[in-house]
Amino acid sequence: MSFLTIKDQSRNEIEALIKRALEFKNGAKANINALVANIFIEPSTRTQTSFQVAEDALGIKRYDLNIENSSFKKGETLEDTLLNLRVMGIHNFVIRTREEHYWEKFENKFNLINGGDGRQNHPSQALLDAITIFEHFKTLENLNVLVVGDLEFSRVYHSIKDLLEKFNSRVEGIDAQKDDKKLADYIKDKDVVIMLRIQHERHESKMDVSNYNNKFGLNKETLKLMKDNSIFMHPGPVNRGVEISEDILYKSEKSKILEQVNNGVFARMAILEKVCKNM
Ligand code: CP
Repeated sequence: MSFLTIKDQSRNEIEALIKRALEFKNGAKANINALVANIFIEPSTRTQTSFQVAEDALGIKRYDLNIENSSFKKGETLEDTLLNLRVMGIHNFVIRTREEHYWEKFENKFNLINGGDGRQNHPSQALLDAITIFEHFKTLENLNVLVVGDLEFSRVYHSIKDLLEKFNSRVEGIDAQKDDKKLADYIKDKDVVIMLRIQHERHESKMDVSNYNNKFGLNKETLKLMKDNSIFMHPGPVNRGVEISEDILYKSEKSKILEQVNNGVFARMAILEKVCKNM
């Protein structure tokens, strides 16, 4: 059993994961007799740490591979790494890597949880985003959602779009690299606005962000255009003052950014339980 993409999950499976995550949030306990290796070849703070917190909460024995001091540095492949860890008794792996769809060559040999692959998928992020939206609106149906940022490079965009479209919500994108659109012209009818990070590390040359907030950013002026009862989110890490002005980042009542991070723990508990118990 693996958890790799949102496209693989049925609507019923997503609903079950959300329900279970909210049970965990409300104090439900589980004790899972399993070993998990966390293999984060690309940097991460939120995803990596929240998987660790979730594993600890579930009584899972975890092994955090120190990438800088690992045999990846000697050129060992991911497949050989997994084969070696598995014969030590570790059968479940949380992986973040730049390599997209890396699991296709493994022929279902391993239990994998995708912690983000390249620019394609970030299914646990989509689940925690969906939980955050569901808690606010009590539904995922028929919402108008705007995603703004570096869409081409964004696994967050692809995964949340896949998820919300299963619930008949409309996800519109503004690609800050390509579109000649202004946020102000698209924000007024949206229930949810998801601001994405400019991923400087994936660009060949550093993007000029001096005018970014004026055109694409959330600030006091664009915030005023948002509907009553609408919310904004950001998966993090934030480029402070660029995608969202510092004065509203966490202080606006519409900001759900830290709630997303909190929900990340419970989303990942639900995912770990499903994969480790083959549910
Ligand atoms: N949202 C997200 O994936 O954050 P990290 O890169 O810190 O894990």
